[in-house]
Amino acid sequence: AAPVTHEAERAAISRGAAESNHAGFTGSGFVNYDNANGSYVEWTVNAAQAGTATLGLRYANGTTANRPMTITVNGTAVASNKAFNGTGAWTSWSTTSLSAALKAGANTVRATATTAAGGPNVDHLTVDAGTTPPGPGT
Ligand code: GCU
Repeated sequence: AAPVTHEAERAAISRGAAESNHAGFTGSGFVNYDNANGSYVEWTVNAAQAGTATLGLRYANGTTANRPMTITVNGTAVASNKAFNGTGAWTSWSTTSLSAALKAGANTVRATATTAAGGPNVDHLTVDAGTTPPGPGT
């Protein structure tokens, strides 16, 4: 199946705001994390079946300093202090990826800033469940 895109501006935002003043985003905008440790965006994503998925986080960081975030799936960290390095401009967007196990049904994916600078600006999460082998009788 094709990767599914989940916009940050439609997710649960702990501290931050949906904004659209830096071009190049998908959907209607992106999330500007508050410059605070612990600020997060949390998506609920559905998986047709349990398995390993590739998660992609599209972001911009117009500073030259890393804005690390810890990524949790269903409350368990799958990437601690993952780097979100500078992208050169707030209008330059990059995608960083990781693998994570998803369960069948609803899963929560949370990206939490781990420094006082807060997170980068986050555009969206993509979930690629990969190729699904044909089941019996197909
Ligand atoms: C600037 C930029 C914001 C960004 C912020 C930050 O204010 O316009 O989009 O979120 O810097 O440093 O986090």
